[in-house]
Amino acid sequence: MPKSFKVFEDISELLSLRAAAAKGGRRVTEDDLSIVKKAAIVAVDGQIVWTGPRAELHSDTLKSFGTDPEFISLKNKTVLPAFVEPHTHLVFAGNRAHEFEWRMQGQTYQQIAAQGGGILSTVKATREADEVTLRKLAQKRADKYVAQGVTLLEVKSGYGQDLETEIKSLKAARALTGPDIVTTYLGPHSRSPDHADLESYMQKICGEILPRLVNEKLADRADIYIEKGFYSTGLARTYFETSKALNLPITAHVEQLSDFGGTALALEFNPQSVDHVVYIGPEVIATLAKMETTAVLLPASDFYLKMRYPPARELIDAGARVALSSDFNPGTSPTQDLSFVGVLARIEMKMTLPEVIAAFTFGGAAALGKHKQLGSLEPGKRCDFLTLEDGWRDLFYSVGHHPVDSVWKASLSIK
Ligand code: NIG
Ligand code: FE
Repeated sequence: MPKSFKVFEDISELLSLRAAAAKGGRRVTEDDLSIVKKAAIVAVDGQIVWTGPRAELHSDTLKSFGTDPEFISLKNKTVLPAFVEPHTHLVFAGNRAHEFEWRMQGQTYQQIAAQGGGILSTVKATREADEVTLRKLAQKRADKYVAQGVTLLEVKSGYGQDLETEIKSLKAARALTGPDIVTTYLGPHSRSPDHADLESYMQKICGEILPRLVNEKLADRADIYIEKGFYSTGLARTYFETSKALNLPITAHVEQLSDFGGTALALEFNPQSVDHVVYIGPEVIATLAKMETTAVLLPASDFYLKMRYPPARELIDAGARVALSSDFNPGTSPTQDLSFVGVLARIEMKMTLPEVIAAFTFGGAAALGKHKQLGSLEPGKRCDFLTLEDGWRDLFYSVGHHPVDSVWKASLSIK
């Protein structure tokens, strides 16, 4: 007998994204939102077993799923798949408001980093914080994502730069409640204050830290920051080879500040995602478009760094799958606001609203390897959805306004 058997009804419009999912989240058009009017969703134990027009849900069909369903009215709201946030640096202490002012006075992100500020200043604050403090800070931030409709959240470490603090950060991430969490180890994020050079830290990462994190099941994936002044493609190759040998899926921060070759290198290893890709060129775009790898675009950090934006149109038109994310961190993107990210994507990257919606749902799920479970509302998928105050065209329109009325995770209301 199923433990829970629910019929969600009184849905004015259901954006199931069934066609967007069938296309693998590529070249999504308005038709691919697969909108059903006056719809219903049937879920058994948190898994969708039926969607369609309510009038077509006959009692025989319903009986085939079980007995005595709970009927839940969604009050004539619009319903769409819950959002996925696939790239956050959620666990850190302190902030870098002072550096924001320095940047506005003309110093660059790289200059501040070279002087021991930047990521290393957050490393100092994070090392000083205990696990409970880190967890409380991160929980508050996770709650903010839930309020915006997120039920799957990626959380990176990377502000420890030593084994102890990276473990502390990943444990804090694992302990978060509300959304489901994917943890990502971002050891090679900056130089480590405890090592003379990046090479010796990489040796420690590959020889000791990665195997330990895998053993203790603390990291679901491995990430690296490949950039001039940070990690070279040579060191990244070593890192990817070790991660692959440990069966750890990979992702990477690439081509954020310059055309450095990180994306091409990462693509040799079939990463789940390549993130930033601002300076990616046409050849690499063509390669990426044929792969299962998702391009995760992070325009809020480009905005804060006053950089250019990633070539979203070129990526999408070439057939690449894209996701959007806040890249929340205290340095380059001190905001969790998904409405801001979506508005930037529309204004600065010329993405259409259906493309933005698909990027925040199916695209995000694919970036984390979870698109078989999430990202569209159809039989076989998890019943994670949100309801809107009004129509779907209100999404990613007004910065700071989140027209989300309620958030449901596997059939349970969490907001
Ligand atoms: O995604 N570029 C590397 N990592 C972050 C920034 C981290 C920081 O400045 O604290 C990013 O932009
Ligand atoms: Fe990042």
